[in-house]
Amino acid sequence: MSQSNPFPDPTKLPVHVAIIMDGNGRWALKRGLPRLAGHKAGTENLRRVIRACVEFGIQYLTIYAFSTENWGRPREEVNGLLRILEDVIDRELKELDDQGVRLRHIGRLEQLPSHLQAKVIEAVKLTQNNTRLTLNIAFNYGGRDEILQAVQHMLRDGVTAEQVTPETFSRYLYTVGTPDPDLIIRTSGELRISNFLIWQAAYSEWYVTPTYWPDFDKQEFQKALETYANRDRRYGKVSSAEYEGNHA
Ligand code: FPP
Repeated sequence: MSQSNPFPDPTKLPVHVAIIMDGNGRWALKRGLPRLAGHKAGTENLRRVIRACVEFGIQYLTIYAFSTENWGRPREEVNGLLRILEDVIDRELKELDDQGVRLRHIGRLEQLPSHLQAKVIEAVKLTQNNTRLTLNIAFNYGGRDEILQAVQHMLRDGVTAEQVTPETFSRYLYTVGTPDPDLIIRTSGELRISNFLIWQAAYSEWYVTPTYWPDFDKQEFQKALETYANRDRRYGKVSSAEYEGNHA
């Protein structure tokens, strides 16, 4: 039986959700499985959450799949994560395209194996005209790296000091064209930003849950969105109602 969208009012939904998909390793460890089994279960879950985004009407989803620091993990795990990216493109691209998902990559593509770079570029090209959901895959992504690259590009382009505004700067980031995240979800209970979207997250709302990523199902995702819908976002200001209340 098809269920109606629990979020009929799109103004209550975040436009852009970003997720730190943490806890795959501990999920596997708890079951006596190798860490890669956790990443595979995490990939299955990602498929469910992407479907939920399409169903609920989320417009942008950014997922942290591999950080610039993750190269320091054991070779087997690094190779496994590279293989997962390749498998996702090989096996899921058709369904993603059918769902109207536009794929984008954020991070340093040039450090990935050349055949994988080509696959990523092809997948991005194939889905470039889709409009239902933009899925930014942060793979070999680091927030500091992104900022340094932006500064280098601005200098190379001859941008003057006066021209360096938040708007200009944002145009030099990997996320150009994507609004800042409204909601950032971090699974597995850790309370840190881990070099993820450090410029873009300035006024994002956070939702942290102890649930490991492979278990963060549609219901939990819905709960995160409901929590967001009840947040009062002030962007460092005070609401006029609060001000008037204090000055009556
Ligand atoms: C963090 O958990 C997770 C990662 C570093 C990888 C996340 C990748 C996926 C969910 C697969 C989807 C990937 C693509 C390319 C679409 P952790 O390993 O740090 O967990 P732990 O903190 O419990 O050890």
